[in-house]
Amino acid sequence: MAQGEGQQTEENIRLTAKREEMAQRLMIALDYPDVTQAKLFIQKLEGIPCYMKVGMQLFYAAGPEFIKELKTRGYSVFLDVKMHDIPNTVKGGAESLTQLGVDMFNVHASGGSVMMAAARAGAASAVSGNPALSMPLIIAVTQLTSTSQEVMNGEIGIPGNVTDTVVRYAKLAAEAGLDGVVASPQESAAIAEACGPAFRTVTPGIRPSGSSLDDQSRVMTPGQAIRQGSHYLVVGRPVTSAADPRQAALNIIEEMIQA
Ligand code: C5P
Repeated sequence: MAQGEGQQTEENIRLTAKREEMAQRLMIALDYPDVTQAKLFIQKLEGIPCYMKVGMQLFYAAGPEFIKELKTRGYSVFLDVKMHDIPNTVKGGAESLTQLGVDMFNVHASGGSVMMAAARAGAASAVSGNPALSMPLIIAVTQLTSTSQEVMNGEIGIPGNVTDTVVRYAKLAAEAGLDGVVASPQESAAIAEACGPAFRTVTPGIRPSGSSLDDQSRVMTPGQAIRQGSHYLVVGRPVTSAADPRQAALNIIEEMIQA
């Protein structure tokens, strides 16, 4: 083999590995009302090893069977059901979700540190009962990106600005043994500074340049979010509503690699 060809192959292998790594950091929000529509969409992404995010709408309609099917197809799954209840109930919920084999799930940080620690204990209990399971990543919701400062101050009753609250919740989640937080990509750098670079930031509000904002207001492009230190990018409509979802996902992955 000529030297040039060898280098070419090495470069291809490196790029393929990088594409896989970035695809694993791209979470596609499967915001569909039923399994039929979700499956039709997934077919279009065949061969792209992205993370699948299942939220309340699809999970309440499709149930655990659909999660098991995603796992059988080889996808990593983030179950975005944002648990918030008394610690004992959250512990039981975490145990059930871990038994399903999800790779990530979340709880509200505003449930407090005992509740967050209970989520971890529930997951650990499921894993100790079945060695085939591995510990999922447990992520705290800080302040929803739909909550404005006015609502946070005037309705929820938390004074100060949103970023300070997000960082305070992130620290509380880290102290409770959680693995990261859901936050705006605009907060990723402040969270990394407060909780260290290994503490994961899962960031929705991603919009490739030129795409519609929909109802998101504090957005960043995939490249900007990666440069801000986001570990996982949550993307829904820019891929699910694209004329060519496969190409839209591949374009985002390329932009992540470039960043
Ligand atoms: O379509 P779009 O890219 O806006 O979808 C974003 C996804 O991230 C949706 O599933 C939404 O529920 C979720 N999400 C969000 N903001 C948060 C938490 C979750 O947009 N703060």
